[in-house]
Amino acid sequence: VSAPGATGRLWGVGVGPGDPELMTLKAVRVIQECTVVASFSAVRRPSNARRVAASHLTSHHEELRFVYPVTTEVLPEGISYDTLLRDFYESTAKQVAEVLVGGRDVAVLCEGDPFLFGSFMYLHSRLASHHPTAVVPGVSSVIAAASSVGIPLACRDEVLTVLAGTLPVDELSARLRATDVAVVMKVGRNLTKVREAVERAGLLDDAFYVERASMENEIVVPLSRTDGIDAPYFSLVVVPSRSAGDR
Ligand SMILES: C[S@@+](CC[C@H](N)C(=O)[O-])C[C@H]1O[C@@H](n2cnc3c(N)ncnc32)[C@H](O)[C@@H]1O
Repeated sequence: VSAPGATGRLWGVGVGPGDPELMTLKAVRVIQECTVVASFSAVRRPSNARRVAASHLTSHHEELRFVYPVTTEVLPEGISYDTLLRDFYESTAKQVAEVLVGGRDVAVLCEGDPFLFGSFMYLHSRLASHHPTAVVPGVSSVIAAASSVGIPLACRDEVLTVLAGTLPVDELSARLRATDVAVVMKVGRNLTKVREAVERAGLLDDAFYVERASMENEIVVPLSRTDGIDAPYFSLVVVPSRSAGDR
């Protein structure tokens, strides 16, 4: 994409929630035009964003695959999660910067939308002031999950709150009580806590658990029926509108 000798452009490319058909035309074009494609993944787990975009990757692409050093915040004493991750993002930003300085564009593949709880923002904060940067928005899991539930998410003057399931239960339930409709992301191993918060907020009968929205093995069940479910990373809770369509 860039002229030889020019600084390359950093692209944060949202590839949507999982169904490759939910990639935007622009995401596909940018991936096709960039010679270097970067993706993040956990150890021994392939990158979901890369899987979504895989049919658009060719042998002409050079790939940077960044593997997170840790997947849990609970670490042995003396090891700091924040330090490990800061060092990791410093090192990935340096590798991406080297490609950009060499004049080539880099497409960083991001699940959902790059600016909503995504790792891309840690590259963006380190690189955007030194290199031309652009973001291709993606269909977020927040929106995809509401479609999977099949009930409108928000209508008229309703307030939508997007929460992280990593928050303490008291804060989650207070935020849920204070809103009209909500999506709780990062459910996974926080499922029991999130369910308790939703119940305390009096919303259990209105909430849905959504696993792998838009993917082939998608699951949608009322949150009240999640006993025994071992929630994976790709799971969230939706409290949709209770008054959609009333007029
Ligand atoms: C680091 S955040 C990334 C969010 C992403 N940027 C987006 O816009 O959807 C990861 C969290 O997003 C949610 N998530 C992402 N994709 C999902 C999917 N297809 N189905 C359900 N939840 C998903 C899960 O709650 C997961 O823990």
